[in-house]
Formats: sequence, structure tokens, C-alpha cells
Amino acid sequence: MDYLPPNLDVIRPILWDDKGLLLLDQRLLPWREKYLRFKTWQEVREAIRAMVVRGAPAIGITAAIGMVLAAEKIKAKSPRDFLAKLRRAGQGLKRARPTAVNLAWAVERMLKRAEREPEVEALREEALKIWEEDIAANRRMGRLGAELLPEGAILTHCNAGALATGGYGTALGVIRAAFEAGKKIQVFADETRPWLQGARLTAWEMKKVGIPVTVIPDGASGSLMAQGKIAACVVGADRIAANGDVANKIGTYNVAVLAKENEIPFYVAAPRSTVDLATKEGKDIPIEWRDEKEVHFCGNKRITPKGVAAANPAFDVTPARYVSAIITEVKVVFSPYEVGLRKLFEEANHGAA
Ligand code: MRU
Repeated sequence: MDYLPPNLDVIRPILWDDKGLLLLDQRLLPWREKYLRFKTWQEVREAIRAMVVRGAPAIGITAAIGMVLAAEKIKAKSPRDFLAKLRRAGQGLKRARPTAVNLAWAVERMLKRAEREPEVEALREEALKIWEEDIAANRRMGRLGAELLPEGAILTHCNAGALATGGYGTALGVIRAAFEAGKKIQVFADETRPWLQGARLTAWEMKKVGIPVTVIPDGASGSLMAQGKIAACVVGADRIAANGDVANKIGTYNVAVLAKENEIPFYVAAPRSTVDLATKEGKDIPIEWRDEKEVHFCGNKRITPKGVAAANPAFDVTPARYVSAIITEVKVVFSPYEVGLRKLFEEANHGAA
């Protein structure tokens, strides 16, 4: 039996059935399209840490399914005991990667549901709901963001596409929606050293959906902007602080500063699950540092001399003043962000009441 949302995208980083979770191994793309199976929450934690799956919303959904796998195996004496054991799994999953707030958000949402209904079936329903809502949010962001995008070359950094979400994508969802609406668009993808999310994943994804894509070295974006070759930039986010500062893949800050210098719009597309009002500003966002081997090696080949150091901060923070707008599934938010982002939740809560 499959557990899949009804609005599943054509690009499917996550699959789930009664035998466990299946993840498209993003470490192998674009060379091999291979799914790996995970049966325990500990295996899921390791898959997130090792980036079999990556991208803020995708790791949130994966962690939610990890919570179901944990719940399925819990032998509890009482609902209280069940909750205590589930909380332990949640703590473990949350620690897998620190910057993307969607991971902690999804775990907390699963725990809240378990507090109300400490049963596997309810948790399965909640994980599927998180997944389905994410795809729907991406589609709405796409529609809202498509109106903002000019025609021409759109620069993006990292991969904020279907592979990084439940499906369709945030930044790439906006690009897809604009393209589907008939706008003449082509993508310029920063290769995104060291993990090459742009060269490997964004290029693979754009090819799959038939959108023209040109991969550029990270250092080329400024020069292309200065020559008037880029119409707009759109990126995703791992966490947006209450004041609108945006944590995203390392190198995003450089793109944003160069966009402002060259008077090019710099848009961030992210669902509300990426907005963290509890984090006041960018400097409070925990930044993941990854193994320096990712910098020393390109594939299996060492590219630095033995004995030299490497630094590998995986994310940076773009101050809100560089962001032209934040595209969410509720509305497009403009500066002042502390007001706009807060309203996003107030209005949504009001609407839900
Ligand atoms: O290290 P990664 O590949 O998980 O980083 C991903 C990004 O930085 C994405 O831009 C972000 O998570 C948004 S994905 C919709």
C-alpha cells in the first residue's frame, strides 16, 4: 500500500509505502536515479544528515515520515510512555541538520498531533497532510511569484525545486509557473560549490520539465548581472527570521549584494513553515558547518593539496535590506518585513478561526 498525497509532482524525491520510506538518492544525481529504502527513524536521521534528501521543506516532510516509522515500532505501556518515546525520536531527527527550520517545525507538528491522538494512524495522516500542504503551498507561491517575474534570464542559487520540497519547488516553482504561464524565461543556475546543487540538481530538474537552463560558475553571476544579462534572481530559504533576514545556501548573500548593486530584483520564495518568528534576526540562526572533505574533494578527486585547511559553512544570512520581496503561499511580502511576516500568521490564524 502506498502513502502518497493526491497532488504529487512529476519529480518525486520522496515516496512512501507500507514497507517504509523511499528517497531518491540526491548524492547520485544526475548520473543515477536510484531510490534507497529506510525503515527506522535512525536510518532517516542518517539520510537527512548525509543529504540523501536535502532542501528545507523536503527534510521536514522526511522527518515527519521518520516520526511515523518511529511510532510504528514503539512498544508503549501507556499513551504517556508512547509520547515520551516519540519525543526522543523527534529530538534525534531535529539534530540531523540545524539551519532549516522546517525540520524542527515538522517534528513539533507531529508531536502536537500525537499529544491529541497518540496513535500511528493519526500520525500517518498528519505526515501526509504536511506533504500535501507543502505541494499546494508551492503551487500557490508559483502563481503569486510568476506575476512578479520579468521575462528573460532568471538567476537561481542552489536547488529550491521539486527535489528540495514535497514537489514542484519554491524558487523553481515560481520559475515553472511563470514558464507554464507562457513567459519567455530561461534559468541561469549557479553551480553552487561545494555540493553542486545547481550544476547537478537544478540543471537535472529544469531539463526534466523542459525549461532552458545554463549552468554558470558561482563567481560568474556578478559579471553577468553587470552586463545586463540577468533580469531577476529568485532563491529559496532555509529559515527566515522575524525581521526578514534570510538563511539560505552559502553564496546566496553574494548574489543578493550583487543584485542590489546592479539594480536587479532579488526574490526569496518560501512557505510559511520556513518563517521562524521565534528567531528575531539573522545572527540568531544556527549555521551548519559541514565536513571540510566536501571542499577538498570534487567527486572522488581531491582538488586541494594535502595539508591545507578548508572551511565549509553550508549556509549564509542575507540581510533583509537586500531582499526585494518574500513570496509565500499566503501573499507576497514586502519591506518592512517584521510587519509583513507577522501579519502572515495573524491573518492566516484569523482566517482559520
Ligand atoms: O544543503 P541543502 O542542499 O539542503 O540546502 C538547500 C538550500 O539552501 C535551499 O535553497 C533551501 O533549503 C530551500 S529549498 C526549497
